[in-house]
Parts: sequence; structure tokens; C-alpha cells
Amino acid sequence: MNKQRILTGITTTGTPHLGNYVGAIRPALLASQNNQTESSYFLEDFHALIKCHDPEMVAQSTREIAATWLALGLNTDKAFFYRQSDVPEIPELCWLLTCMAAKGLMNRAHAYKASVDANREANQDDDYAITMGLYSYPILMAADILMFNAHKVPVGRDQIQHIEMARDIAARFNHYYGEHFVLPEAQVDDNVAVLQGLDGRKMSKSYGNTIPLFLPEKQLKKSINKILTNLLEPGEPKDPDTSPVFQIWQAFATTEQTAYMREEFAKGIAWGEAKRQLFELINSQIAEARDKYETLLANSNYIEEQLQQGAAKARERSKPFLEKLREAVGIRRIQSK
Ligand code: TRP
Repeated sequence: MNKQRILTGITTTGTPHLGNYVGAIRPALLASQNNQTESSYFLEDFHALIKCHDPEMVAQSTREIAATWLALGLNTDKAFFYRQSDVPEIPELCWLLTCMAAKGLMNRAHAYKASVDANREANQDDDYAITMGLYSYPILMAADILMFNAHKVPVGRDQIQHIEMARDIAARFNHYYGEHFVLPEAQVDDNVAVLQGLDGRKMSKSYGNTIPLFLPEKQLKKSINKILTNLLEPGEPKDPDTSPVFQIWQAFATTEQTAYMREEFAKGIAWGEAKRQLFELINSQIAEARDKYETLLANSNYIEEQLQQGAAKARERSKPFLEKLREAVGIRRIQSK
């Protein structure tokens, strides 16, 4: 029986932070151990070009993110782990899909609409600073997914629309050229923690409130010390449910540890002490991976080898499939009949 295929993309902008770890990486690594499914994780460097025009940053982020997943123990024998730009069938499929995608569908994409709204607000032309990359982003994403005929795509709520667009485009292709594509489904996990950042808002690069996952130990401690607290003194009871210190604790703690910290808050634990314990908890869970991460970055050839092997494995699927799709649309060698 063919296994269920699950596919996740990771945009290569920025350095992974605790929020990415808790909300995306940790659940993905867990899911990759399931023997009933087949998982693919890929670094979206073509997508990164939509948001980031700094070549060093794109390259650096790709290295760091690849090293992060490997350091955290992703089993690359079992899972597919590759870089989008190493699979040339993806941009080629993207073109076949572009010719099936309605412009009106793209007009409705949230990310594009948000940019137009921002332009209007700033009294700019609707199209100001909007590239065709941003506009057709959902088609490249559809190509990522359809290239490997993924059944399930774990995403955040904001991405559901993109998966629906991929279904729409796939259905139209199937209608014209025969049943080639599985219609993918979004998989939204409401139980995954959305981590608060230093200022108590959602931890996100765009708010500048993140704690990078693999900060050196001393800096991790410093960063945790910056988490927002109120002015309550040691001995005064504190409310765990409004505290980012407690919320982050909870994302790393067992049920017992969470109950323990709740009690400590009620008893008036000092903020400094709560943060010290939070540092110890997080550090104990990531120290080993952080060492591996540093070793990997110091020896980047290994990272590149892993990605090349991953690409070869992915292309065993994408190459023959794309040949079939070319044939289906009439891109064929000329032969005497
Ligand atoms: N657009 C997704 C995001 O911003 C990333 C993405 C690109 C993706 N291609 C994908 C996610 C394919 C899943 C599958 O989160």
C-alpha cells in the first residue's frame, strides 16, 4: 500500500527561533518518526527570493536552517530532505501550472491583497513594489506540493488558502490533461503551541521579539532575562496565565513541571529565579543539539552532502513524473509516426 505523503516547506529567511521550534520543527520531527506516513521537508530558497534580496542572507539562512534540522536529529534516510532549487522539475512544473492558474484566483491571495491594501493606505499606486514573484507565489507553492503528489500539508491557518489554490489548480490540470495530481489537504493542528515572544506578543521575526534557538549558552540566558515581567516583588503571588515566562515554560515542560511552576507563581517566586529555572529547562533540552549545530556549521560540507543526497532521492520521483506531465500537455520529442 502506498503511504500517506506529508510535505512541509521551510522558508529560508532568518534564523530559527524558539517559536519556530515549538510551533513547527518539534512537531514535524515527531511526525517524521511515524511509520505509516512518508514525510518530506524542503528548504524553500526560491520562495525566499520573494521576500529577501540580500544574497548573503539567503545563503546564510539556508545553511542555518539545514543545520538546525540535521542537528535536531531529522532522519534523512527515512524522510525526504532537500532544497527546492536542487529540484529543477519544480520550477518547470510551476510553469505548467501557471498556464492553468486563473489570474482572478491570484488576485484573491491574502498575501498579495495585504500588499495592495498597504499601498492604498500609504497613498501609493496599487502595484507599488509588488513583484510577479509575490503575485504568483501560490503557484510556486502549488508546484512544491503537486510535484510529489502530497496528500497532507501541515500548515498554519494563514496558509489554508494557498492549499485550496493548489487544489483548484490541480483540479483544472486534471480536467484538461487527465488524473495526474492528488488533491492535497491542509492539516492544521490547533494543539501546537504558539509561543509568546520577549514582549508577550506572538514570537515572530517581524516583531523583533524572538529568542534564537541555538544562541550560545550565555546569550540564551541573557535573552531569557529580557522576557517582559511586571514589578511584583519576590514573595508576591504572580499570575501565570498572563506571563510569557510561564507560557514559554509550559511549552517545554511536562505536565508535572507545569503544575510545579504554577504553584511557584502562586507562592511568589522571584522573576529572576523563574527565569533562571526557565533557562535551565530550555538549555537542558537543546544543549546537545546546539553542540551538533555548531559542529555542523563548522563543517558545512556535510550539510551540502546531505542536501545533495536528498535532492537525488527527490528527483527519482520528480524526473519521471515531470516527463509524464510533459507528454500529457504535448511537449514531446518529434518522431516519425
Ligand atoms: N507559504 C508557506 C509559508 O509561508 C511556505 C511554503 C512554500 C510551503 N511552499 C510550501 C508550505 C509547500 C507547505 C508546502 O509558511
